[in-house]
Amino acid sequence: MKNYIVHDNWKVIEEGFHPEFNLISESVFSLGNGRMGQRANFEECYSGETLQGSYIAGVYYPDKTRVGWWKNGYPEYFAKVLNAANWIGINIRINEVELDLAKASIHSFRRELDMQHGLLSRKFEAVLTNNCRVRVESERFVSMANPEAGAIRYSLTALDFGGVIDIQPYIDADVKNKDSNYDEKFWEEVTTQNHPESAFIVAETKKTAFHVCTGMKYKVFLNGKPVEVNPEFATREKYVSHTFQITVKEGDILTIEKYGVNLSSQFHSKEKILDKAFDVLETVYDQGYDALRKEHTESWLNKWEGSDILIEGDVAAQQGIRFNIFQLNQTYTGDDAHLNIGPKGFTGEKYGGSTYWDTEAYCLPFYLSTAPQNVSRNLLIYRYNQLDKAIENGEKLGFTHGAALYPMVTINGEECHNEWEITFEEIHRNGAIAFGIYNYIRYTGDADYLAPYGFEVLLGISRFWNQRITFSEERQKYVMLGVTGPNEYENNVNNNWHTNKMAVWTLKYTLEVIDFLKKNHLQSYQSVAEKRAFDEKTETVRWKDIVERMHFPYDEKRKVFLQQDGFLDKEIVPVAELNPSNLPLNQHWSWDRILRSCYIKQADVLQSLFWFEEEYDTETHQRNFDFYEPITVHESSLSPCVHSILAASLGKHDKAYELYQRSARLDLDDYNNDTEDGCHITSMAGTWMSVVYGFGGLRVLNDKLHLNPFIPKQWKSFCFSVGYRGAHLKINVSTDKIKIENHSGVSAELMIKGKALKLEAGKELEVAMI
Ligand code: BGC
Repeated sequence: MKNYIVHDNWKVIEEGFHPEFNLISESVFSLGNGRMGQRANFEECYSGETLQGSYIAGVYYPDKTRVGWWKNGYPEYFAKVLNAANWIGINIRINEVELDLAKASIHSFRRELDMQHGLLSRKFEAVLTNNCRVRVESERFVSMANPEAGAIRYSLTALDFGGVIDIQPYIDADVKNKDSNYDEKFWEEVTTQNHPESAFIVAETKKTAFHVCTGMKYKVFLNGKPVEVNPEFATREKYVSHTFQITVKEGDILTIEKYGVNLSSQFHSKEKILDKAFDVLETVYDQGYDALRKEHTESWLNKWEGSDILIEGDVAAQQGIRFNIFQLNQTYTGDDAHLNIGPKGFTGEKYGGSTYWDTEAYCLPFYLSTAPQNVSRNLLIYRYNQLDKAIENGEKLGFTHGAALYPMVTINGEECHNEWEITFEEIHRNGAIAFGIYNYIRYTGDADYLAPYGFEVLLGISRFWNQRITFSEERQKYVMLGVTGPNEYENNVNNNWHTNKMAVWTLKYTLEVIDFLKKNHLQSYQSVAEKRAFDEKTETVRWKDIVERMHFPYDEKRKVFLQQDGFLDKEIVPVAELNPSNLPLNQHWSWDRILRSCYIKQADVLQSLFWFEEEYDTETHQRNFDFYEPITVHESSLSPCVHSILAASLGKHDKAYELYQRSARLDLDDYNNDTEDGCHITSMAGTWMSVVYGFGGLRVLNDKLHLNPFIPKQWKSFCFSVGYRGAHLKINVSTDKIKIENHSGVSAELMIKGKALKLEAGKELEVAMI
């Protein structure tokens, strides 16, 4: 755990340069706008420890898989969102000495991420080895208003010298992924172009043949007045730079504004991409830095209007939650259905930038509540578009007749994961995708999504469950053998309670959906039935029997659902009784020891209890929570939030807060010593849920928005914004009352602390806390 980030309500601040934490800071201070992003690398050269990282959503390379022992059915490749051209670079030489923070002596360093406006800035003074003292101030952003553009304003003040400053803005597309399996580079040059104050590189990804055109254009000012420059071009493969010299006197301020664009062939034709990039770059250049910045910051303010959480009385918590919301909004903006949410967003390379069940299980609720409806709908359409690939994936593993197994990790619908216990066995993910459809409709009321999109996906998933489940003569029950639940510290178990639950629930839900469609969208239903050769009468007989006769492991003595068959053969010793030197287990214990132990990586039975909360009474919740939470090690960042929400609904407020805290500042404080790999973006949505679902008690049931809040004793009040079926609500919770304002022209049906209330458009209401 680190503690070097200065606490502030809206800003993330590093005061004084911490080169030893630079990799962490580069992740934490990252910028993104849903389409592209980059780690907080310095503009000027840096010879210290750094991971140069610029990423463009959806642009990936299928890196050939590396495994020790190949198993039939393994994917051939692991998709990686590529480290792409660096457009932020500006090399600086002062009287022939390079400005390099690893070599100069640095004073008054401050790096700041203004989350409210989406701006990254730095200020410092550097004394170079030739004793020239220079002040540097830089600011940059990737535009939320124009997702293909970004800009930098970089100023140098000659504090105690006169002489020549060499400035060299460049684009470097000769970059490599840190996680490249065979040390290969993934880009090839298509073309480069130089113009008097601008340059372009078009690069192509190997194999996938995406084209990306990166452009730069700059303006130079001396003491605020524009300066004509006469740059010298240097071009080598996948690299262009422009170098020019400016003579300064002591006290002069030299400023360069650098504009960057990234256009990809996902959105533009390859033939026209260079011309188009030229136009986009001209437009932003003509707009100028201040206008571009204004439009960008206004977009951010608008995002905050719909998603902010205000916490009074706890700055660390305030900064933590805003950081989570900021990163989620940077990572996914939902304007395109073929993009999704990588667990590290644009902040690092781990997990390859691919899509996991994290999207439906953790992220979807955030976007449902804080973004326009089409944003979460696009997350669903992403899976709809990949249905045929999921069916092919099922076929590779021996399933037939349209049974869909969605991948554990994917970018284009094909499976990329290659550990048998996860690829083949961690199939609960299929249930999460089905649940995502249900959750979207429950929240938005958009049941028409089922015709045909939702239904077609549900049909494929139901067919998979039907084939994956077998009948045990011995038990006279249906069983599911050889699976891995969300708790990856158990593999190849029989009858994982959560997976069985997801299967039965999906079958039941799909049956209900069929009835709904037959009544409301008959034609669409029939055309899907025809397209997918679905014979309802014969196929659903076994579905219904499974729903009736599935085996669910249960302990009669403790009255708890058992995570899997035989779970109680394990020695059950609470984590609190383990010597802390054993933790985290995954860094201290051998894998077989972990597998044999009772310790749980992340919510498993409790994941189902969270999702299907209303099906179980409080005592059942209580017993299961009390049994499982003490043996959970929370070694996935996705774990504490679910437990925090369940603790909150059981009235265990201190526990809820303790668990919330484990995730809220996970990256700001580098809690797990792994932020240098990138931030835990998908679990940030879980943190948001801990506040809104946990402390706020938000649920949507029977077309009503339920709120049942409590206030952690560490806070004076908190306020969160949610959208609900066209209404925009601000919910303010303080120790004595809940105040809800409806900032929209649509009324909302609410259930506050068990009381049904209607909040008219533009009105507010208050309810006492007790
Ligand atoms: C978790 C998975 C998750 C993945 C990506 C793993 O550590 O166990 O549930 O999907 O990380 O976030």
